[in-house]
Amino acid sequence: MVRAIANASQQLYFPLMYVCICNAIKEEDLREVARHGVTDPEAAYAVLGKAPQCRVCLDHAEDVICEERARCAGRCPARSLTLPGGGSFATA
Ligand code: FES
Repeated sequence: MVRAIANASQQLYFPLMYVCICNAIKEEDLREVARHGVTDPEAAYAVLGKAPQCRVCLDHAEDVICEERARCAGRCPARSLTLPGGGSFATA
């Protein structure tokens, strides 16, 4: 697990780290889609315009998504996300 680091303004950030090598998906990519309500890795990859290939990363991706959803639970308003193809994904 990668720990969040607080900068001088006490804003949290996560060091750049790839979760999925096959698709070049970074941890922050997953955290962003998780904050928009995506709850599982395959849905997150689809939102990012990708699909799992070797699938080695899926357990770690799920951990990242769950961690981010727990971190912002109750604080993050429902939002919509524009997909790479121009579609959208909305959370209730
Ligand atoms: S490392 Fe993610 S699909 Fe292969």
